[in-house]
Amino acid sequence: MLKLGVLISGRGSNLEALIKAAEDKDYPARVACVVADIDAAGLEHARKAGIPAVIVPRREFKDRQSFEMAVDKEMRKHGVELVCLAGFMRILTPWFVEQWLDRLINIHPSLLPSFTGLDTHKRAIEAGVKFSGCTVHFVRAGLDSGPIIIQAAVPVLPEDSEEALAARVLIEEHKIYPAAVKLIAEGRVNIHEERVFIAGASAPESIINPAYF
Ligand code: GRF
Repeated sequence: MLKLGVLISGRGSNLEALIKAAEDKDYPARVACVVADIDAAGLEHARKAGIPAVIVPRREFKDRQSFEMAVDKEMRKHGVELVCLAGFMRILTPWFVEQWLDRLINIHPSLLPSFTGLDTHKRAIEAGVKFSGCTVHFVRAGLDSGPIIIQAAVPVLPEDSEEALAARVLIEEHKIYPAAVKLIAEGRVNIHEERVFIAGASAPESIINPAYF
């Protein structure tokens, strides 16, 4: 059983997806602890499931590294083997990234490397892309950068609002985050020259948008 430490700042729907996936006895990972930097609504998902959940209040630390050292300590206290960022709104220092190198993953609501940062859905609509989606990746020191493990693509529709596209992407986030964790727990994820190769994986058919035939 791979022990997960999940870091959140918000509603925690991806945390909830990981907790749900782990309810299956055959799922090879369990959420061992949850840490939030603020009093995040998502902590409730952990508490309901009886998972240790704590706030490590960023504002009470003198700098980023002392805050991260407290988060790191919490992870180690619970024997965490993989740290999962799930709507954690803090950029981590190279120190933390180095502590958890190749054992630290993030979910981002775009097809990286397009649309790093915030307001991804608004920017995708404005750019006129025909697909958007979400990405689970290993974390490196740059913003939303690192080897890509899995992506899901969804069509962008002509009438889409930011909210409509976000909702369509979020459904996929809740599938690919547990899927990525499962692949890692099964030992099928290999990083070679900063690219991820997944043992025994097959590729889907192409999808075309607009579908014109
Ligand atoms: C998700 O869209 C995730 O991709 C991004 O932040 C959002 C968190 O949502 N990193 P939730 O808190 O998991 O519901």
